[in-house]
Amino acid sequence: MSKREMKIKSIERVGNSVRLIDQTKLPKELVYRTLDDYREIVGAIKRLEIRGAPAIGIAAAYTLAIAVQQVRDGSPTTVKRLADEIKAARPTAVNLFWAIDRATGTVISEEVWDYRAVADRLWDEAERIHDEDRQMCARIGQFGADLIQDGNGILTHCNTGALATGGIGTALGVIYTCRDQGKRLRVYADETRPLLQGARLTAWELQQEGIDVTLICDNMAAVLMRQGKVNHVIVGADRIARNGDTANKIGTYGLAVLANHHGIPFYVAAPTSTFDEATATGRQIVIEERGAEEITNGFGKRTAPEGIRVYSPAFDVTPHELISCYITDSGIRPGGRQEAQ
Ligand code: MRU
Repeated sequence: MSKREMKIKSIERVGNSVRLIDQTKLPKELVYRTLDDYREIVGAIKRLEIRGAPAIGIAAAYTLAIAVQQVRDGSPTTVKRLADEIKAARPTAVNLFWAIDRATGTVISEEVWDYRAVADRLWDEAERIHDEDRQMCARIGQFGADLIQDGNGILTHCNTGALATGGIGTALGVIYTCRDQGKRLRVYADETRPLLQGARLTAWELQQEGIDVTLICDNMAAVLMRQGKVNHVIVGADRIARNGDTANKIGTYGLAVLANHHGIPFYVAAPTSTFDEATATGRQIVIEERGAEEITNGFGKRTAPEGIRVYSPAFDVTPHELISCYITDSGIRPGGRQEAQ
């Protein structure tokens, strides 16, 4: 198991507050924010200051502890109200709901309603969720690295590294583990329109870690595959339905289609907390829609006419038939893709 501690920590407990990296400022500035107001952290999740499914779950659990300590009320009704408020931050990543339900479950049936005792329990549970995520990332890295050979080219999408989790990451965790094993890889990072998590975050994070990374625009993936530069596509997930359909950053589905066409394995790397047994198929997954200005006026530069109609789903669903396998913390699970003989 990788013993490496990442230099980059997306979120940390500091006393009775949390310190997070404001990811909207990267790569230009590395800005940390220390927050002890739960509404501000919910706002930070909505604005994608902290993002990536596992990191959202961890942040949500800490937020519930902060909320109870802030409102000084640990009654089940209040805990439930606060939990619902936090759950409303973003709809797609199941880790948010999983973490809040898990944390709530440790206090909701308690006799003790003293808010200090309830908050203490919530802090403990949030730290456990954080620590378990760190360990799950390390195991995903180990299982995933067995699929990759020295000299391989890997294409990835969005950001799935230390910035998106409590540890070394999921898809990027596989890449870090390969590096630790001495495998030399060529990594291609999709820019990931419209919010550029690939360009701003993955390219930056991999550069910080000394990984050989090349940034490409999203629409270049097909050419790269045709040129034989990509041996594996590895992506993360925001929610995996019971039948294996996988919601992840918009553009993932297209990559899966391309990978299938070119006979390139397509892997989804995700911890147990991203598997949603309660959702039967991808059709039931709620897909977040983002504001038009993220496309028409991205990063403060107008690139489309005023008044234009925009459609901006933040995620898409890749059907399980296009997934070669899932790299999880408990091992490799087969996907539904039939490989050509
Ligand atoms: O909108 P974001 O940046 O939160 O989207 C993140 C992704 O889609 C990631 O690929 C996913 O959460 C997995 S992170 C390990």
